[in-house]
Parts: sequence; structure tokens; C-alpha cells
Amino acid sequence: MKNKPISMIVGTGSSVPSKVLSNFDLEKMVDTSDKWITERTGIKYRYIANNGVVTSDLCSDAALKALEEAKVLPKELDVIIVATVTGDVKFPATACYVQQKIKAVNAVAFDISAACSGYIYSLTLANQMIMSNNFKTVLIIGGEILTSMVDWTDRNTCVLFGDGAGANVIKPSDGEKGVITTYIKSDGQLAHLLTTPGGGSKFPINHRTVEQKLQFIHMEGREVFKHAVKCMSESVEKVLQQANMSPEEIDLMIPHQANIRIIEATAKRAGIPMERVLVNIDRYGNTSSASIPIALDEAKRNGRLKEGDTVLMVVFGGGFTWGSAIVKF
Ligand code: UT7
Repeated sequence: MKNKPISMIVGTGSSVPSKVLSNFDLEKMVDTSDKWITERTGIKYRYIANNGVVTSDLCSDAALKALEEAKVLPKELDVIIVATVTGDVKFPATACYVQQKIKAVNAVAFDISAACSGYIYSLTLANQMIMSNNFKTVLIIGGEILTSMVDWTDRNTCVLFGDGAGANVIKPSDGEKGVITTYIKSDGQLAHLLTTPGGGSKFPINHRTVEQKLQFIHMEGREVFKHAVKCMSESVEKVLQQANMSPEEIDLMIPHQANIRIIEATAKRAGIPMERVLVNIDRYGNTSSASIPIALDEAKRNGRLKEGDTVLMVVFGGGFTWGSAIVKF
């Protein structure tokens, strides 16, 4: 290993709502089947927020767990970054509501919008902020209530998504553990393939845009699938090159949980056997920016990820955005 880490993850936490929606529940809502969903996506269940639960609630719960593990007090936080496309309101930032809820009175708080890739973008940003020496303790959170943008009559999308949040507390590295390197990329030419067009300045909410269902997630699934495999494979290759590492040196790969077939294809191209790939899509669905930090937290807490392990995380999402990171724990 060549790169010396600048920052390290000192605490993780995650949170999901209590309500579970199974494929069998969905069979009663749209023309679909447990068989189709399982075979085409790998999803069996997903968590769904009840009315009244907002993204900053899940983010704050995940953050408090991460802070507890890190033994960091909220007032010690210098920065809060929330990656989300389903913030509580249009503005202000969901990070500001998290700041208020966890009483992180000394932090600067802001959101970033990079769809599913938001967590890897946030990790990259946190690493750079710590590198600047101006910030010492950074909280990053990927949190979504994607089901607030789901058209429950559209079987192409409504079976895919779930709600949740995952948080990391990041501090300067001890010189051994931490972020070895990250890689992030975007291609705005393909933005139209995965978008929620309504509610912004292009299509402000009105009766007409609601009738046209522009407030919901629109996705060209097959196209997105192709690009996801290509870009996630490229991300694995690039980040390994940057770290001067081989696939054999990766103890655990945590890919974005969008589709089991994307995960398997990425792992195969990367030369990482599925025994070393974390899959939890069956229980969560696609939780966008929350998917990797939820999986990371789960892996740490159930012992799948052990001290000394090197983890490769890789993601793809709307924008298009994609990226990867290698972190030693
Ligand atoms: O997180 C950000 C990135 N997002 C992704 O990476 C998602 C990428 N895309 C995918 O995961 C897959 O494209 C989907 C899971 C969304 C769809 O799977 P697919 O194998 O690409 O299916 P398809 O869209 O090509 O549709 C195949 C058939 C169609 O029927 P016909 O035209 O062949 O008769 C669809 O109407 O499956 C039908 N279909 C369904 N059938 C039962 C689509 N959705 C459903 C459904 N239940 N829920």
C-alpha cells in the first residue's frame, strides 16, 4: 500500500424506519410478482417511512449512533454534510435540520446533491476538508426518503426503492487506518435517464406538472443498468490504480445496492469473488446515498468487517455520477 491516509472513519451508524414492505405487499399494489422482483433485482423487502418521518429524523438517528461509537460529542463537530436528493424541504439544507436535532452548535452544515453517489462524494469532500487542516471533525451522512418520490402505480420503479440513512464520523488519520484514495466522476449528458423532473425551476409544482407525474422518479432502467456496470467497473479499476493495489488486497467490496445483477457483473469484471462482496439489497432495496453507509455500518456491527480490513466502496447514480473509495479500517 503506497498512499498514507489523511482521514479515518472513527464511527458509523445507520437508521431505517420501522415499517417493512415486502414483495408480496407490492403484488397487491401493482402488476408484479415476488419472482420477478427477486430474479431481476435481488430485492425481497425494503423499509418505508411512515407519514411524519422526515429525512433529517433518519439522518439524526444514524448520526447519534456514529457519534456514540466515535466517542465524539455533537458540539465537537466542525462540519455536517448530508448527501440527499430527498431533503426535508427544498431549502434550507437537511444538514441544518440535523445540526438542530443533534445540537451540533459549532458545525457548518450543508447538503450535497449527487444522487446515489452522494456518500462517496461526501467522503471525498470530508477527506479534502481535513487535508486542508481547517476542519478536524466531520460528520457525513447519506440519507433518503426515496419513497416520497415514488409513483406507487409505476411497477418499473416502485418496487426498487427504500428509505434509510447511514452516517460516518471522520477525523484525521492515525497514519495507518483511513481513506487511502477516492475517485469521483460525472456525466451530465445522461442526466435525463434518471431524474425527478418536477418541483424545481424547470417544472415548478402546479396542477399540470402533478397531472404529468413529474414529481416522481423517472428512470430508463435498461440504459441506467448498462452505464452502471460500465462506470462501476471503471471506478474499481481507477481506484485500485490510484492506490497501487490489486483486487486480491481488497478484503471486502461494498457496492451500491441498486440491483444484484449490477453488483455481480461489477464484481466479476473487477476480479473480486462474491464471497468478498457485501450484499444486503434483499432487505433494504435501493436506498440511494444511504446504501453504502448502511451496508458499511451493518458490516462493522455484525463482524463481517474486521479491524485491519481494506474495503473498496463503489457507486453509480443519477447525474450520471459515479465513484469509488478504498478505506483501511
Ligand atoms: O441507483 C441508481 C442506479 N439505478 C440502477 O442502477 C437501476 C438500473 N436498472 C435496473 O436495475 C433494471 O433495469 C430494472 C430492475 C429497473 C429493470 O430490469 P430489466 O431487466 O432491465 O427489465 P426491463 O425494464 O427491461 O423490463 C423487462 C420486462 C418488461 O416487460 P416487457 O416489455 O418485456 O413485456 C417490463 O414491463 O419486465 C417488465 N417489468 C416488470 N414486470 C413485473 C418491469 N417492471 C416490472 C415489475 N414486475 N416490477
